[in-house]
Amino acid sequence: MTPHIGTPTSRVDGRAKVTGAAKYAAEHSRPGLAFGPGLAHAYIVTSNIAKGRIARIETDEAKRVAGVIDVLTHRNRPRMAEADSAYKDDVAPEGAPFRPLYDDRIWFSGQPIALVVAEDWETARFAASLVRVSYEAEAHVTDLFSQRDRAVAIGPPTNPAEAPFVPPKPRGSAEAAFAAAAVRHEGEYYVPIEYHNPMEPFASTAFVEPGGKLHIFDKTQGVQNVQRYISAALEMRADDVRVVSPYMGGGFGSGLRPQFQVLLAALAARALQRSVRVVLTRHQMYALGYRPAMIQRIALGADAGGTLDAVMHDAVTVTSQYETFHRQETGWSGLLYKSPNAKYTHKLAKLDRATSCDMRAPSAATGVYALECAMDELAAALKLDPVEFRLRCYSDIDQNTGQPYSSKALRECYRQGAEAFGWDKRSPDPRSMRDGKELVGWGMATGIWEALQMPITVRIALSANGHAEVSCATSDIGTGTYTIMTQVAADMLGLPPDSVTVKLGDSTLPQSPVEGGSWIAASVSNGIATTCDAIRAELLQIARRMPNSPLANAAADEVVLADGKLVSRRDPSHTVSITDAMRAAGVDRIEQQKPTTFPNDGKHAHNTHSAIFAEVKVDEQLGVIRVTRVVSAVAAGRILNPKTAGSQIMGGVVWGIGMALHEEALTDDKFGRVMNADIAEYHVPVNADIQDIKVMFVDEPDTIVNPLGIKGVGEIGIVGVPAAIANAVYHATGKRVRDLPITLDKVLA
Ligand code: MOS
Repeated sequence: MTPHIGTPTSRVDGRAKVTGAAKYAAEHSRPGLAFGPGLAHAYIVTSNIAKGRIARIETDEAKRVAGVIDVLTHRNRPRMAEADSAYKDDVAPEGAPFRPLYDDRIWFSGQPIALVVAEDWETARFAASLVRVSYEAEAHVTDLFSQRDRAVAIGPPTNPAEAPFVPPKPRGSAEAAFAAAAVRHEGEYYVPIEYHNPMEPFASTAFVEPGGKLHIFDKTQGVQNVQRYISAALEMRADDVRVVSPYMGGGFGSGLRPQFQVLLAALAARALQRSVRVVLTRHQMYALGYRPAMIQRIALGADAGGTLDAVMHDAVTVTSQYETFHRQETGWSGLLYKSPNAKYTHKLAKLDRATSCDMRAPSAATGVYALECAMDELAAALKLDPVEFRLRCYSDIDQNTGQPYSSKALRECYRQGAEAFGWDKRSPDPRSMRDGKELVGWGMATGIWEALQMPITVRIALSANGHAEVSCATSDIGTGTYTIMTQVAADMLGLPPDSVTVKLGDSTLPQSPVEGGSWIAASVSNGIATTCDAIRAELLQIARRMPNSPLANAAADEVVLADGKLVSRRDPSHTVSITDAMRAAGVDRIEQQKPTTFPNDGKHAHNTHSAIFAEVKVDEQLGVIRVTRVVSAVAAGRILNPKTAGSQIMGGVVWGIGMALHEEALTDDKFGRVMNADIAEYHVPVNADIQDIKVMFVDEPDTIVNPLGIKGVGEIGIVGVPAAIANAVYHATGKRVRDLPITLDKVLA
């Protein structure tokens, strides 16, 4: 039987998605679930100041509108937990999480301050316009540059969970080595605030069940995270809150933490004992988390032979006044390339904004952008080909920890990517290639991400008729989790994929972490393997007890499941079918549920890598930039499904094009709010911006990272892409633009 793992496979949920059968968080209206009156609809009233207090909030006029059920504010809301710890979700940063409608305090513009609940959405929206608010405003600060000198260095971690997010220890003496280096480059790079802009708006439908239990359909990357959060914040028993999210229309990190609409929906449902739906408008989604803007300085020193001597990376990133979100944005610089001296600083600027959060390849998308542009600038100073320079600095160990990699096929990424792109035909000098009126530029960059994995539990029920149900509370945020789970289970159970049903996205299912960090493919696949082992062992146990069993003497590791049968590895003619084994035992199904953990041997670094090659064409007179070709060669261990994995990387490249050329949240600092808070004014790449993208996976066997050798591909796709494009723009034009996005005015300036 051909294995399903590694075979390009269309999404098992594809038909449901394109036919509309797949229901999203705002689309559930199961009348059977709602008791009492029907579903109510709520609209959020938001703050139009960035800092201060609510002095008065008048809701009488809104309440008088026919069809309005109630208006909730901090003054009449039901009881909520007092301790900060109740609001700390699984991936909350340090600090005191924001609590919607908790009190009169305003932390950011766009903050929810009232919830109008009505019989229909239009009525709720209209009535919301009648809520009168007066504020005691205080002076706010939303501009990062005004605060860069007041930013505070990230201190030692206060708990172990924070440890991966502080800058690594310095090594050698970077300042002295930089001063003594034969060739130096130092530059400041900037990445603006960016928003995730998933296609599906954030929404929650909270059904009240008899007895007051809540059954919530939520847009989230982690149903159990939301379940814990809601039950803690509303002081409910965990079992009385069920959170379900079978499909998600894009998350990219915005759904890792519970967002305020879910607490508002639950709060209102509880207060009114009536089922409530809350949907954010696109505009309101700009009051959620965002990729923190980052000012960064990189200093690189090399010897005349083109190897690095010194790496220094300093960063200032954005967080809120109430939480300190950061990732380890600077450490990638010293990790990736051989350099005896490295040093990092990372400071946080607290602004009157919502807390920043994870967004696709958090820290690497931004930090590696600066590093890889700086490497390009230093290569130019050294008069070295950018690929050649990186090969001279190539490291087989994580330079920060000194640990060898469980696998690292980056050299092959450079080689195969360069070949597919035709890199050897590049003429090195800027402005030396053209196509008619357009300057042509070729740039490249390296990408790197972590290969993470998290404890997870998988349950499998195998029926005598050869059907398996595989369940786990993970999400499928659109990455293809349903599909890879089906493929892995089909292989391990020896069943056709059609005989495997996957259940996920329900907090009542076995334990899963949030889907993020590119860790679910590795975690859940190895989790399926663990539980399949247990299924096979139980099946063998009953098969061995059959009269004259052909497997009477077989040990657990001597049999495999194939074609609906237990098969002896020693003698494949010795088989017992699943049906016969169960019939003999008088059972119609067997079920196993097993946790899987990933003990780290502490001796190896686990990373994915990529080499990105980009071609741009720049109109010499207008400065208009088009990305005409991108090749992304990725090394990410075993690829479970080249089709869905390829889509992940392609999507990451599209994001990278957006990050390089389009995306930027523009804030009116006088009012402290985002001015381009919609996807007409906040630019993202559209079809016309996307041309030829080639994704290749380089073979990278890995017997160390986890039993199945899987590393995950959700995030690596974007990393390096903005730098490759920026480097291509420099090669085309001779103009180095270091602050993103690279717009035509900056090219022409
Ligand atoms: Mo990803 S930014 O961990 O959803």
